[in-house]
Amino acid sequence: MESLSANVWVRRGLLLVAAATAVTALLGGLARLGVALGWGPSVAVQHGPLLVVGVFGTVISLERAVALARPWAFAAPGFSALGAVAMMAGLPFAPWLSVASCVVVVLVNAVIIRRQAAAFTWLMLLGSLTLLGGTVWWARGAAVFEVVPMWMGFFVLTIVAERLELSRLAPTPRWASLALVGVSVFCAASALVQPWWPRVATPGFGVSLVLLGVWQLSFDLARRTVRLPGLPRFTALGVLVGAAWLTFTGALIVLEGRLPAGPLADAALHGVFVGYVLSMVFAHAPIILPAVARVAVPFHVVLFVPLTVLHVGLALRIGGDLTSHLVLRQTGGVLNVVALLLFGAAVVVARLVTGPKAPRRSAGERAAAR
Ligand code: HEM
Repeated sequence: MESLSANVWVRRGLLLVAAATAVTALLGGLARLGVALGWGPSVAVQHGPLLVVGVFGTVISLERAVALARPWAFAAPGFSALGAVAMMAGLPFAPWLSVASCVVVVLVNAVIIRRQAAAFTWLMLLGSLTLLGGTVWWARGAAVFEVVPMWMGFFVLTIVAERLELSRLAPTPRWASLALVGVSVFCAASALVQPWWPRVATPGFGVSLVLLGVWQLSFDLARRTVRLPGLPRFTALGVLVGAAWLTFTGALIVLEGRLPAGPLADAALHGVFVGYVLSMVFAHAPIILPAVARVAVPFHVVLFVPLTVLHVGLALRIGGDLTSHLVLRQTGGVLNVVALLLFGAAVVVARLVTGPKAPRRSAGERAAAR
């Protein structure tokens, strides 16, 4: 059996904290839908921040720290995980731990640029700056709906940067790559100026999401890899369906403007967070988890089950949001959580059926899988 370094155990420990935080946060989300389970009602208010800066703050900054491979970079997921625990314990300084994590992520991305100055590394830095901006406002007392475009901007720019890096494997017209950078900068700018000019900045932000979604549907490498069997098709479908949700949600934000709460806010938030972000997480988990936690996730066709449940659930949920149909909304929300549980189960099944060791892939195959 391969002996694992202390560093890998630290990474796994951080991922466990993120997973436990996710369970609590999702129970809180269900409570907000009117489905009270376990201790969910007591954490309903923290649902959004727990997921964004607690769970994803830890996971994404861990991935960045692994990429940089410097011990100090692991302070970012460390602060995020501590912030998540402090938030669940109701400690008032919790948001400032998340701010500390964001500062380290910005530094990590800046150092990565010194190693490799490319459009995609600059976009990752821009994404981490929008995360920092949103988290500082939130720590200073701003409401979540006021900072949520900055948090969304972080996810979208990080994912788009990753896809831009891959676009070098597919012949993308130069104008299209430049346009992607331009729209990404506009996305970050319109998210960051929200506190001052929400009436103009919110529709502007929605337009940027539509353009980024349309870009991915038109130029992303996934358009080619969707024709390949196995993992490449699975990943590509996750990417393309996610991009379709991004386009739809951007249009909704343009039409409805800033939404503090309620069914339309639910649709605008989760079209991005579930339709785009979770879909990308499912799609990339078989590639990212082996790199970050040294846990092989072999591809198996059963992985399509949670991906399908996720998107069908979201369609029902948003259908319920738009038609004020509470039961539809609740059913869809519960299915979103079921999809996450099924994903965990599908990974276990895939490992049992295929064996824990994922087949070794060449760099070319790994790239195609993305
Ligand atoms: C998968 C199952 C999920 C369920 C059932 C759920 C449920 C909810 C509900 C009911 C609301 C209140 C919406 C309203 O204003 O009426 C909400 C808000 C929110 N959710 Fe989720 N959610 C889920 C996933 C996620 C994910 C994955 C993220 C982020 C990555 C997220 C981030 C947020 C944020 C930021 C808010 C706004 C919170 C606030 O204003 O305090 N949610 N969620």
